[in-house]
Amino acid sequence: MNRTVPVPWPVYTSDAERRVVELIRRGLTYDYAGAGPVVELEQAFSELHEGLHTVSFNSGTSALFALYAALGIREGDEVIVPNLTFLATVSPLLWLGATPVLCDSAEDEPGVTAASIRRSLSPRTKAISVTHLFGLPLKMTEIASLAERENLLLVEDCSHAHASTIDGKSVGMHGDGAVYSIGSSKMVSGGHGGIMVTRHARVRDAALLIGHFKPRTRTDLLDPELRPHAEFALGGNLRLSPLAAALALDHVRCLDRLRTAKLANVSVLDEAVAGRLWPFAASGERVNGTHFDIVYALPPDQGAAERDRLIERLVAAGVPARAPATRPLNRVLRSIAHRPVNRQGALWDRLAAAAAGAPDDDHVTNSTRLHDRMVSFPSPLLYSQDATYAHVLAEAARSVLVTS
Ligand SMILES: Cc1ncc(COP(=O)(O)O)c(C=O)c1O
Repeated sequence: MNRTVPVPWPVYTSDAERRVVELIRRGLTYDYAGAGPVVELEQAFSELHEGLHTVSFNSGTSALFALYAALGIREGDEVIVPNLTFLATVSPLLWLGATPVLCDSAEDEPGVTAASIRRSLSPRTKAISVTHLFGLPLKMTEIASLAERENLLLVEDCSHAHASTIDGKSVGMHGDGAVYSIGSSKMVSGGHGGIMVTRHARVRDAALLIGHFKPRTRTDLLDPELRPHAEFALGGNLRLSPLAAALALDHVRCLDRLRTAKLANVSVLDEAVAGRLWPFAASGERVNGTHFDIVYALPPDQGAAERDRLIERLVAAGVPARAPATRPLNRVLRSIAHRPVNRQGALWDRLAAAAAGAPDDDHVTNSTRLHDRMVSFPSPLLYSQDATYAHVLAEAARSVLVTS
């Protein structure tokens, strides 16, 4: 099939459609016990991570909240987070009363590095939370050594990086825990959902208590000492729907095929923009298999004005390019520094404190300047059938770029 528009994402096989219908007909649209597709999906993610523990949630945001809480992050702790990430890497920290410390990117990569993290350390730092932004794996060996040396917890937000690898292994295996959003247009999507991955049985048990109160906690806790806690747990119901799990499983099963097609389609765009726009190339052992956003940068001497003009011309030529939706958090927070009247309570207080403490662009120059130079291309392109569209985009982009 020749396509001049991308296959809309997420799409599912007829097997997945049949399974969802079957679950509905059998009344299995909820699962308090931990069975069926919910557990199958957790097992599938465990297999992708060499048998590490996994727990499912109703969103990536819930999974991050559960992971941070299960790791013991609490009021007063500082957690180093990237300035360039989606807000949900950070917002669950505010629910826990912890203080996010925004960390700048590397000069030439959208993600953080051990060097940029080191500059954000303080005596109150408890944890480092990093994002493999746009699917580009970070230099995790160096970041993990820093965390170990400084005795800090390490979390990987892999929500953009489902099929990305470091040294041939999936991302999400270098720290104390990792989270994948499996919602919206992620490479693995159940519509809404999240998966937590951890090497620690105690973290897995705590996450279960936070998000899956009884009866699952009666049967699934690993630590016998926690059994009395099965009845009240830590009170939360952040469960994934079995219907969403069945849908997400469909994508896990064809992850290799999606990744291969995506890489082939992205290479068509890479070739067309070469010399004019720069890809954020993952070097050597780091493979960006996901390209959640297909992002390029204008040359370093250009900024937001040139980028916006280029986007206008690309759009006029039929390429739906845009600035990446993931914006530097210092800008997002500073833009909401004004608290609406009569809004009281712990969360408003913490948000106000985070907004008041957000640095200006001069203190996070790499992430803000880099974002100003970034152009994002339409990102599904997950099928070999999308190849025609990738070529159409590439030709249109080439014609604009040769005249700019
Ligand atoms: C980097 C990152 N982290 C976390 C999330 C939150 O995931 P969810 O929307 O499933 O809650 C997202 C969502 O897009 C994300 O991009």
